[in-house]
This record gives sequence, C-alpha cells and structure tokens, in this order.
Amino acid sequence: MRVLVIGSGGREHALVLAMAQDPSVTALGCAPGNAGTQAVAEQLGVGDVSDPATVTALARRWRADLVVIGPEAPLVAGVADAVRAEGLACFGPSAAAARVEGSKRFAKDVMAAAGVRTAHAEVVDNPAHLDAALRRFGPRYVVKDDGLAAGKGVVVSDDLELARAHAMTLLDSGHPVLLESYLDGPEVSLFCLVDGRTVRPLLPAQDFKRMGDADTGPNTGGMGAYAPLPWAEPGLVEEIVEEIIRPVVGELADRGTPFSGLLYAGLALTSAGPAVVEFNCRFGDPETQPVLALLRTPLAGLLHATATGTLAGQPELDWAPGSAVAVVVAADGYPGTPRLGDVITGAEAEGVLHAGTRRREDGAVVSAGGRVLSVLGTGADLAAAREEAYRRVVEIRLPGSHYRTDIALRAVEGRIATPANS
Ligand code: GLY
Repeated sequence: MRVLVIGSGGREHALVLAMAQDPSVTALGCAPGNAGTQAVAEQLGVGDVSDPATVTALARRWRADLVVIGPEAPLVAGVADAVRAEGLACFGPSAAAARVEGSKRFAKDVMAAAGVRTAHAEVVDNPAHLDAALRRFGPRYVVKDDGLAAGKGVVVSDDLELARAHAMTLLDSGHPVLLESYLDGPEVSLFCLVDGRTVRPLLPAQDFKRMGDADTGPNTGGMGAYAPLPWAEPGLVEEIVEEIIRPVVGELADRGTPFSGLLYAGLALTSAGPAVVEFNCRFGDPETQPVLALLRTPLAGLLHATATGTLAGQPELDWAPGSAVAVVVAADGYPGTPRLGDVITGAEAEGVLHAGTRRREDGAVVSAGGRVLSVLGTGADLAAAREEAYRRVVEIRLPGSHYRTDIALRAVEGRIATPANS
C-alpha cells in the first residue's frame, strides 16, 4: 500500500514513523513534511495543503492507495471529500463532519442533540452584547474563537479585563466569540478511530496547553503529553465512549454527515462525570507522539480500515506495556511570533520527533516553526518514560528555545485530583 501523509508537524512525523513499521506499506510519502519525516518518507512538494484540487492532484500523481490528512485546516476545507471523490481511500472526515472542530457552535449543537455533557456556552458576534454576556459568566472566564485557531484562540482567566480584551480582539478581526462556563477537573484527551458508526478508542492521554510550568502563561498548541493515564479509574475510556463518543457519532450519522477518521474528545473529568471541552477532527499534537509510540498494531492497516468502513473487522488493538512522554521544544517567541532559521544540534538523535524543522541546503537542520521538536521517552512506567524524555531534551541545542520542565510530573507524583480521589 502506498500511503501519502499530508502535514508537517510532530503528529505527522509520529504517523510516518508508525506507518514505516507496517509491513503492508510499500511506499510512504509526506507532503510537505519536515526534516524528520524526510528521513522516513519521500518528501513531496505541495502548494497549499488546504486546497482540495492541489492535494487530489498530488495523490493521483503519486499513485496513493491511502491519503492520511493530519491537520484540521485541510479537513475543514474539504480536502478529504475531494480525495474520496477521486475514488481514493482517505483517512479524515468530510468538511461537513469536520465542523465538530471547525465550528464550536456546530459542536455544541451536536452535543445538545446527543445529550452529551459539556460546558454551558454563548456565542457573541456583536461587540455591543459582549459586556452583558460576560456578566453571565465568571468568576473564571473561558473565551474561545468560534473557528480554527491552532489552540491559541482560547483565553482562560479570572481577570475580566483580560477576557474582555481577548474577546474584543477576536470580534474586531471578524471572528465570533464563544463564552463558556469553566469545567473543573483533570483534562483527558481521548482519540477514537471512527468509520461512520464503529468506534475504536486509543489509549487516553493528557496534554499540557499552557506555555509555562505549573500551567502558567498563554495557551499554545500543546507543550507536552503523556499516555496512558496511571491515575485514571478503570472503565474511564468505556464510560467516555458510551456516554460521549457513541452518541455524538450516532448524531452525526443521523444528520447525514457521518464521521470517518479520528475523533478527538478533549474532556474534563468533572464531579458530574466526563464533560467535553472540545472536539477535534484529527489526531492531536503532541498526544499522538506518545500514543503511537505504544501502539503495536500496524497503523496503516488500521487507518485504511477506518477510511474504508471496515473497522469492525479489525482485531483488538495491541499496545506495548508501559508509558510514553513527549516534551515539546519550542522556538524563541512561541506562542507569539517564533524566531526561525536557528540551527538545531541533536535533532537526529533517537526519540526526537520533528515539528517545525527543515533541512537547509548545507545539510543543517534548522527551526522552521513555533513548536520545533517533540522529544519522546518510553519506559516501564511514567517516571521512567519521563526521565528518558528529559534526558533527551537536555541534549538538544537550539538558541532561545524553551520547554516545560513539568510534563507528566504531577501524574508521576500522584498529585492529580480526580472526582473519585478528592
Ligand atoms: N493537543 C491539542 C491539539 O492537538 O489540539
């Protein structure tokens, strides 16, 4: 099987690494890829990955048997629809189903119809209504961009002025704003393969969205992640699948917009039960890196089965024992404007997954994005995996770069307070 992966982040590096282990894969391409994917997959030039005609032409030209679309923007733009219309198998939802991520309003509507627990929310699209709406929320304000914002459109703060200023910035740039009640409790990312009706959950993970240690600083696309969750109650994944994923998948199918691809539920474990913070329509980054590091089932076969509606016929997923941790190394300036073009030393070491990197003509690997690397560690338990990840991180040199030093630390120290243990 010839597999073409679309995207250029740490998630895509993890996807191509996993698929390179799958004996059914005869050729692997990645467009546009990065300096890491280039070492395992043919690097393919592509113009705009969100342009359906461009991606479809590439998939045809390269004779792809399966196209795997990594990021949300092409999915929301209808690239999967166009690839499927060419008769090619495509892993990723239609534009209509990708609205679970592309429009928070749509996601709320689906959840309400499916009876799924989530934060109370109001959409504000007129600045004149903002202050009155804000008065109905608090003391902790959650202000989100209604559309796609690469994780950076969210402000969670007790400071009304900060919340108001963020909402005004979004409104001034023409984006409707979603105000939400704050969901208390530890967060969980659960990825599920979905082929329309059949649901296969992967290992649960936790990611770290704030830039600084102890969850300080601005929101980012994600600064680290680990899997599985040693503190999770037995049965948590089944509870989430039964109470949240299946009802939403059923609702989407009943609306005539079945979801096919990876449905990512971002959840808070509240005292009332798991509640949805957000849905995403693709693998999460950086959670994919630790989750796939533990998956033994050949990935390409699994994604092909998902794309072709045959997931129910697949055997149970096989997972390596132990844990995995990913620590993101970010460029100077991230999550604002990152400094680019710095030479990275140690980027080719074991366990170093690339995100914002490119290979210069002289062969040097240089930074080319905000999140530059995700450094993986695996081990018999979370403490060992964490130690390995940080042992690898300190070997990397990138001027001005920064990373969190507390990824998975609270879990290792048994300091995650869940509704069941608090
Ligand atoms: N880890 C957050 C995201 O992928 O959106």
